[in-house]
Amino acid sequence: MSSNTAQSTGFSRRTALKLFGAGAGTVGLGTLGIASPAAASTVVPAASDTGYWNKVREMFTLDKRILYMNVGTVGSPPRQVLDVVDAVHRQVARDAEASYSDFADVRAVIAKAHGVDTDEIVITHNTSDGMSKALLGLNLRVGDEILTTNHEHSGGDTPLALARDRYGVVIKRVELPIGDDQVAEDYVELFRAGITGRTKVIMFSAPTYLTGTMLPIRMLAELAQQHGIITVVDGAHIPGMMAYDFRELGVDFLAGAGAKWQCAPGGTGILYIRNRVTAANPTPLPEFWPMVSSGYPRDESVDLRSRDESQDIGKYAQSIGNGTKALNAGVKKAGEIWDEIGRQRIQDRVVGLADRTKELIVERWGIQSLYSAKSDTRLTCALTGFNPFQNPADVKDSAKSAAFVSRLLDEYGIEVRNTSLSVIGDSAKHSPLRVSTHLFHQPSDVDRLIDAAWKLSKKMA
Ligand SMILES: Cc1ncc(COP(=O)(O)O)c(C=O)c1O
Repeated sequence: MSSNTAQSTGFSRRTALKLFGAGAGTVGLGTLGIASPAAASTVVPAASDTGYWNKVREMFTLDKRILYMNVGTVGSPPRQVLDVVDAVHRQVARDAEASYSDFADVRAVIAKAHGVDTDEIVITHNTSDGMSKALLGLNLRVGDEILTTNHEHSGGDTPLALARDRYGVVIKRVELPIGDDQVAEDYVELFRAGITGRTKVIMFSAPTYLTGTMLPIRMLAELAQQHGIITVVDGAHIPGMMAYDFRELGVDFLAGAGAKWQCAPGGTGILYIRNRVTAANPTPLPEFWPMVSSGYPRDESVDLRSRDESQDIGKYAQSIGNGTKALNAGVKKAGEIWDEIGRQRIQDRVVGLADRTKELIVERWGIQSLYSAKSDTRLTCALTGFNPFQNPADVKDSAKSAAFVSRLLDEYGIEVRNTSLSVIGDSAKHSPLRVSTHLFHQPSDVDRLIDAAWKLSKKMA
């Protein structure tokens, strides 16, 4: 079993047995028509899995001339998703259908996949939408502190800035380290040191989009709970990449993308709002108000100041006038396809490919070239950040880094991206490469990327 199952203690073994044990032969034989590999996936997929994953790859319409490794920016919906979206769009047009719906059927699929209930899931427009809805729905007051990091995406940073300017909230930032030199406990200590008596919310990305390091969500949620602090996770990359049980994570809110690793249509996202008192989080959800709603009762039957699980918070936040039936049908189909392949299997595969990527990077460029974590599997995921240059100082040259990305595409047909981030102890920003390994990749694609990046780094030395 691969890394990161520690995030969701208690579910991984059971799920693994279900997927790879007695029932393994039936996984993937359904509507996808793809026979499963006989054995469980290993960290680096066995050669015998190649045929299976080639079939999976055939489900996608990605341009075969390009090796696309930038799923962290946007994924690619499989054919079945495209067909459903197209058919529903056409049906809606033909029948001039309105859709005043809470899309409970779609939310039920996503909820089940992540171990929660339908009333805890909202299909949003994207991660940014989910982050705004979560953060700006809280009861924030002047002087409240929100503890976050210096590696946040604008999708989370922007609602923080709005909260600061509108309510007088104080934003404090933990400075995150880079590379492979830390363990999960180090992140907990960093956050612990930043907590004060006024800290109301801890907000962090997991993984961070700048380094690809997965922060230890469950451990940080436990820390927050010890201090009565609300947790909001920017989990843009989690849906479709990691098989997390949201309830087991113990967080209050988690916003993710539909269109990245989940390969749902563009303009879709997934927001988890914990509406249950559970072992992993034994207090009621804090005061929370849907920011946009046409489904919130207007008859004073609900008072969200006092929490009650029967309040259908997901429905209140989901119902916002005439919705998009076609995109929601696409989210549902993408979710069903992932469930059929098996979310743990996908996680093992994509993280396994990232593990391979990191191994090969370390062989060529050395361990210090990594911006992502590698050794502590609680901190790894399917994103890999690294410095591709022969002269390590070149990573501070943003123009050279941009040229590396475009030459990798032009000369080798491989699409990745770079990022730009602050590094502790350095006044200059660094611009490492970021590689996404997904279920339409093979180990040979990773090898090809590494060879190409190595050759290009020699040419650009
Ligand atoms: C960590 C993180 N948060 C938020 C976003 C914004 O995502 P979306 O386009 O789904 O709003 C991204 C996009 O790359 C991201 O990496």
